[in-house]
Amino acid sequence: METNLYAQLADSLSQQIREGLFRTGDKMPSVRHLARREAVSISTVTTAYSLLEQWGWVEARPKSGYFVARRQDDRLAMPRQVKMKPRPRAATTSELVMEVQRDSANQKGVSMSAAIPALDFPILGNVQRAFTRLSRTRKYLGVGYDAPEGLPEFRQQIARRAVDAGVHVSPDEIISTAGCQNAMALGLRVLTQPGDIIALESPCYYGLIQMAEAFGLKVIEIPAHHDTGISVEALKLALEKWPIKALVSVATFSNPLGSIIPDERKQELMELLEKYDVPMIEDDIYGELYFGDRRPKSVKAFDRDGRVLLCSSVSKTIDPQLRVGWIMPGRYLEKVTHQKFIQQVSGSTLPQMVTAEIMAQGAYDRHLRQARETYRMRSQQLVDLVSQHFPENTRLSRPKGGLVAWVELPDRVNTTELYHRGRSQNLTIAPGEIFSASGQYKCCFRINFAQGWSPERVAAVQTFGEWIRESL
Ligand SMILES: Cc1ncc(COP(=O)(O)O)c(C=O)c1O
Repeated sequence: METNLYAQLADSLSQQIREGLFRTGDKMPSVRHLARREAVSISTVTTAYSLLEQWGWVEARPKSGYFVARRQDDRLAMPRQVKMKPRPRAATTSELVMEVQRDSANQKGVSMSAAIPALDFPILGNVQRAFTRLSRTRKYLGVGYDAPEGLPEFRQQIARRAVDAGVHVSPDEIISTAGCQNAMALGLRVLTQPGDIIALESPCYYGLIQMAEAFGLKVIEIPAHHDTGISVEALKLALEKWPIKALVSVATFSNPLGSIIPDERKQELMELLEKYDVPMIEDDIYGELYFGDRRPKSVKAFDRDGRVLLCSSVSKTIDPQLRVGWIMPGRYLEKVTHQKFIQQVSGSTLPQMVTAEIMAQGAYDRHLRQARETYRMRSQQLVDLVSQHFPENTRLSRPKGGLVAWVELPDRVNTTELYHRGRSQNLTIAPGEIFSASGQYKCCFRINFAQGWSPERVAAVQTFGEWIRESL
């Protein structure tokens, strides 16, 4: 389960160009020289160079080798913040959402629609080995139900890791869940009744809009900025006007924008929630995938009276197949535990054991260091690709962490049509309209940058670029 060698080599060469080791017009090391130096085959180096060519970093000159290409600057503007009057409305389910969700399970073609991590890191080998070993050595069958709270050793690992996000809780204040979606559903069930109003950021992770609809809730969409996340001012106006029962937000590397609420704003947000006595479900699923030098604080780090229910999982850091998540429900601990019992009785212990072991051994942290660096590079490569292949007036968010970015095209482009056209050829993006409860974002789409820019993925971006130009 190794990341492709040629892609790794292309990544590291593009990084060297970025850092100025090679400048426009410089000759790059010869194929033979690189093959010897990196102890890889000639064809690995040649493939790496053709990837760099596709990314626009180098150009081949006949009989002379590869040279650093003249690059366009990062000229792409940032997505605009949507202008709308926040007001409660019924969330609607959409068949489109289920289609997009099914696409992510389709192994054919090129899927850029799903918010999933790269699944070729060595950590998956560690996970597989831990499953084999623990299923032999630990008694997990024949012990009946686990306690509703979940496995103590798993909850201990989560409590330890939370300190890095500024959150100090004991393992007893954590409940294991079947992923983050399940954690949020438990929280929303406890906090709301059908007919209640909740506030969501806009654009918003579509799974939340669907959940709100299923629970009979009304939603108020609060505009979010591409860089700094939900508008605290707009939220304040909404809180003054409407009886909002809860705020749900992906405060750190939101999906789809990749925005992060800065620490001072997180503090302000907490003060606002305290003033209006409103609880918050914080979805921190991307918090450990930061590209900077330290883990951003969670909103829960500023929580003084247990009103934040922090939800997360290893779906974005290891693999969604594990279905391992957790919730720190603060003052709602007992209610959420009861809710978990109602919905699941208890969780499955083996995946929790495996996750706890991977974390305790240090393999998880080693993996995260590698994953963050890889994703940071791939997010920069996305900027290059979009600059190169999309029309000039395309806008693109520049996440400082996470797995996905948000593309805004000229108003005339309909990304649902673009999605259907792509899907007929097994090329997928996530169309913008599913990220809104009020039909916004028809000219936007979400794209995954985490999975690496293989020649097929680069060609898919190129194809979408051609289709977009055609529709202008
Ligand atoms: C913001 C956000 N929350 C929750 C989920 C679902 O997480 P899980 O697979 O752990 O249930 C996703 C998956 O895309 C997500 O992007």
